[in-house]
Amino acid sequence: MSWIDIGHIDEVPLRGARLVKTHIGCIAVFRTAEAEVYAATNSCPHKGGPLSEGIVHGQSVTCPLHNWVFDLNTGEAQGADDGHITTYPVRLEDGRILLDDSAVTRRSAA
Ligand code: FES
Repeated sequence: MSWIDIGHIDEVPLRGARLVKTHIGCIAVFRTAEAEVYAATNSCPHKGGPLSEGIVHGQSVTCPLHNWVFDLNTGEAQGADDGHITTYPVRLEDGRILLDDSAVTRRSAA
């Protein structure tokens, strides 16, 4: 893995998200109430809703358009809905958010 610094956790709203530019376009970086971070595609597989504008609760995000809920660990839709979002490895180090650059590079080459 090749980790790149994509910003400080304080730049991401609590229970919200921020968009980060990568080789494959913008991805959403989410911050939970417990100050955990997750990264995933910004586009909802239902009808393309902007997940970065959704509400983060627990380790999930609710799409702002039709309220589908996605687990940020697995990317799987919860409940009766059937869908999946791509997630990307991120970690925190001294408040800095590190994204696995090789993961987003690899996906762009596929
Ligand atoms: S576009 Fe996300 S739930 Fe419909």
